[in-house]
Amino acid sequence: MTEGGAPIGVVGTGYVGLVTAVCFAHLGHHVVCMDVDAAKVESLRRGAVPIYEPGLDKLIEDNAVRLSFTTSYDELLAACHTLYIAVDTPPTLAGDADLSRVLNATHQIAQRGGRRLLVMKSTVPVGTGERIVADLEAAGLKGEVTYVSNPEFLREGAAIQDFLEPDRIVIGSSTVEDGDAVEELYRGIDTMVVRTNVPTAEMIKYASNAFLATKISFINEIANVCEQVGADVRTVAHGMGLDHRIGPHFLQAGIGYGGSCFPKDVQALKQLAGNSGYHFQLLTAVLEVNHLQKRRMVGKLKRHLGQLRDKHVALLGLTFKPNTDDLREASSIVLAARLLGEGATVSAYDPVIAPGDHALFPGVTLCADAMEALRGADAVVLVTEWAEFARLDWPAARELMRRPFVLDGRNFLDPETLAAAGFEYDGVGTGDLGLARAPVANG
Ligand code: UGA
Repeated sequence: MTEGGAPIGVVGTGYVGLVTAVCFAHLGHHVVCMDVDAAKVESLRRGAVPIYEPGLDKLIEDNAVRLSFTTSYDELLAACHTLYIAVDTPPTLAGDADLSRVLNATHQIAQRGGRRLLVMKSTVPVGTGERIVADLEAAGLKGEVTYVSNPEFLREGAAIQDFLEPDRIVIGSSTVEDGDAVEELYRGIDTMVVRTNVPTAEMIKYASNAFLATKISFINEIANVCEQVGADVRTVAHGMGLDHRIGPHFLQAGIGYGGSCFPKDVQALKQLAGNSGYHFQLLTAVLEVNHLQKRRMVGKLKRHLGQLRDKHVALLGLTFKPNTDDLREASSIVLAARLLGEGATVSAYDPVIAPGDHALFPGVTLCADAMEALRGADAVVLVTEWAEFARLDWPAARELMRRPFVLDGRNFLDPETLAAAGFEYDGVGTGDLGLARAPVANG
């Protein structure tokens, strides 16, 4: 409970808002969740969770007595003093973060007056907090509404664990009391708390995501060089990661990062720097490497199969990573479109994507299981490392395919198992497997 035993309010029931709300409920707080989407609120009231996040439905069920859902700002504000903002900030056409939903929420809150503690969970550009405070003061709410930045570091698919067992909690505030009030909400979680001012907290979020994306693009470039010189990036990453200054995480080479965060946040930080007169060269390269990495898979397929016209390529996995149903900025979208552009036939299977037509994959045959997708294929590309693909009956798959060739876009499958099943295998930077070292073009 917060001030006066009032519940915490959370505006936005996307994956960040919902996970935040449910985890605070799990910590013992009453939480009122508000969303403008009436259908979503209705389904949450019935206990139906609109997103795929392991463990979330169970946690909602367990904490149902402390959770309520509404579409009404009046209802939310009548109940809550502390208000988390967790609406999305998609990129604008200019590449900046679109703050319209955030500003609409703060406007709705300001219009209704009253003493409030606004806490920002949404990822917003550095300077947003100061801008919101200035707007609130201009609206005559000086001293009434105070503001804290409390960014999220939740990975989709592991969001509950990331909330309840975080590496750190970051709290940016302009007064000690406001920061204390937010820190108190996390009582029960044993971790480092970084207390700072609002712009610094905002920057910690962007810098963290941009650094992780940089690590991925870096190891992807190392993988590409490994292919030229016959080295194996998996062992290179292992050898690098044992140095504690580097660490083993986010050194998994592959077909590029996707999702709702890295692509947008790297772009937004680059844009933020540019808008303030600084050209962030490194991030420009990180974005370009990621863009080309997806296309490289097409070049590799051509190297193995020759021209792709009239070839059949099967994709295993479509989501931007396993254990989520999120397709935002998934590498599969670009890959499928490029393959179709080359004249290939494309089939696909993903455990959480229903068969039939899909707006993001026009022209792709979405199948009900992996074997159906592989039938008659000249190559299979592993795009998303869902656990079930490691357990696939590869000898049976070989019988179904026209040509037994696997391109492992995540270095996830065991090359020896595949070789034993009669497959030709190639990965990303996994060393020269007897092929001539011709450079691989970005398809
Ligand atoms: C990311 C961050 O990891 C979270 O800390 C952050 O809170 C979140 O963004 C956000 O800003 O909301 P998320 O996008 O859910 O989380 O996914 P990650 O697990 O970080 O993976 C992102 C992408 O990088 C995926 O496409 C994944 O396949 C790729 N990746 C990750 C690699 O290609 N190699 C790696 O070694 C690690």
